[in-house]
Amino acid sequence: MADTSKKSDEHHIESNPLVISDSFEGYSLNFFNLPLHYRDDLKSVLIPYGLVQDRIEALASRIFSDLHIHIPEQLICICVLKGGYRFFSDLVSKIQNENRLRNDRSLPMSLEFIRVRSYVNDRSTEQIEIIGLSDLNALNNKHILIIEDIIDTGVTMAALKTEIEKFQPKTIHVVSLFTKRRKDKKCIFKPDYSGFEVPDHFIVGYALDYNEYFRDLEHICVMKESGIAKYKIPGS
Ligand code: HPA
Ligand code: MG
Repeated sequence: MADTSKKSDEHHIESNPLVISDSFEGYSLNFFNLPLHYRDDLKSVLIPYGLVQDRIEALASRIFSDLHIHIPEQLICICVLKGGYRFFSDLVSKIQNENRLRNDRSLPMSLEFIRVRSYVNDRSTEQIEIIGLSDLNALNNKHILIIEDIIDTGVTMAALKTEIEKFQPKTIHVVSLFTKRRKDKKCIFKPDYSGFEVPDHFIVGYALDYNEYFRDLEHICVMKESGIAKYKIPGS
């Protein structure tokens, strides 16, 4: 029998991802309302929008509980554009809900937006450039929350965190809505908070794109091979 003796205030929200197993092929498209312009390019709905929202609400509650202890100092929430914009917006708004509804604690935030350009330098190591934050010195001695859509190889996030660490913030936490369970097992970065662990498929929707398509789709979907071919950039 389930142990129901624990008090409700001991309810523990997982910071680790909800794991979507390899055997789960997603939901048939026929159960969802999908934009006509993408219907033929998608194989299935892997994570419906509503479930994404529920998980974000839980993450917001967990992050609020963990990080409010730093008040009255601001938490600088950094949105990694473009893919992170929906997640950032919904996560911040759900933390704001906690702030509105609780009288015992609060978490003040400020919001920053960056893009990360990655390139391989002449020593064949990954380098990144942070675009959009005019003065990275402003991060010195501050509490930082980096908000990312997906961690795949982890190379970009590892480089981004290393770059931000150079400016010596007081704390850095990373939250990613998705982490990918790569078949080659080569993900080099584990975020502090993760929404879902997804199988090694290319996923789109909820601001995640394939060559700038599919950001305008609500659900997290898996693409058909024909869809991948259709939107491939010639020569890439
Ligand atoms: N979807 C969209 N963008 C990505 C992915 C993905 O599966 N992996 C890395 N960037
Ligand atoms: Mg992208």
